Amino acid sequence: MTIEEYIKQIPKAELHIHIEGSFEPELMFQIAKRNNVEIGYNSVEELKKAYNFSNLQDFLDIYYAGASVLLKEQDFYDLTWAYLEKAHSENVVHTEIFFDPQTHTNRGVAFETVIHGIDRALQDAKEKLGISSKLIMCFLRHLTEESAFKTLNESHQFRNKIAAVGLDSSEVGNPPSKFERVFAKAKERGFITVAHAGEEGPSDYIWEAVNLLKVSRIDHGNTCLSDSRLVKRLAREKTGLTVCPLSNLALKVVDDLKNHPLKIMMEKRLMVTINSDDPAYFGGYINENYIQIAKALDLTKEDITTLVKNSFNASFLTKEEKEKMLNIE
Ligand code: ADE
Ligand code: ZN
Repeated sequence: MTIEEYIKQIPKAELHIHIEGSFEPELMFQIAKRNNVEIGYNSVEELKKAYNFSNLQDFLDIYYAGASVLLKEQDFYDLTWAYLEKAHSENVVHTEIFFDPQTHTNRGVAFETVIHGIDRALQDAKEKLGISSKLIMCFLRHLTEESAFKTLNESHQFRNKIAAVGLDSSEVGNPPSKFERVFAKAKERGFITVAHAGEEGPSDYIWEAVNLLKVSRIDHGNTCLSDSRLVKRLAREKTGLTVCPLSNLALKVVDDLKNHPLKIMMEKRLMVTINSDDPAYFGGYINENYIQIAKALDLTKEDITTLVKNSFNASFLTKEEKEKMLNIE
């Protein structure tokens, strides 16, 4: 079996996927048309030409514009279902999905519209595709603490549908410390916490995420390698790092996949996992991320097995669920 075949057939978990980042241009045009809203591009091809990013902010501007065509519960259902079918076709058996409520509530879409659409697709996927899932509600870090608190309060009546809270959007200049009180309140309410840190931001932001936000996982975490004390701490605590190779390449976090830090992270015994981040924008879903990084870094089948095992071990499944899923490999 080639490494590519090995990657495709192995059952895996995905832990870092923004549902709004799985919005394929074809579906975007379809939903824009039925909602009678303008995208600002004349064709799928023209839109795809704009997917040429210099950094995270460049991408975020287009990502928020794309999400603005989502208005109705069915739109959120269709978006989520399309991702789940794709994930199923790539042998993803468990997925932990981010959504950004403020991207929608700030445009006047009700919180319940968003969550009901996503949740209905997740229930259908459990039943029809056998995929299990968790939802992670992200706060947009470029917005205020007040706005995050408002979102946390809005989520309260849907508490049983959301496993964790996270932190995403423009990293530099918006350190985790800005949301220390929001995360403390979220923890008090029983949410697990995670945060994007060390994608473009410094290793200090990873320290803050760990020490102030008490996160169970770091999303990305690439820049931890500049601080050996931090690396030791993350390795000792087995903190999951949800690494996203094709995202890092598209957003110029790395100039070439051959220079990606994944292998060094593995050598340092960090609990790294492979994920797609925003697959509709970065040129590949989870298997393509595994395949391209495996080729660039000459990863072995044993390396792939380690990464896949990490994906379950770093998930928010129970010990029993993890054991069951690790046994089907
Ligand atoms: N939102 C969606 N994708 C993101 C990323 N890679 N970093 C920060 N925020 C995001
Ligand atoms: Zn992300």
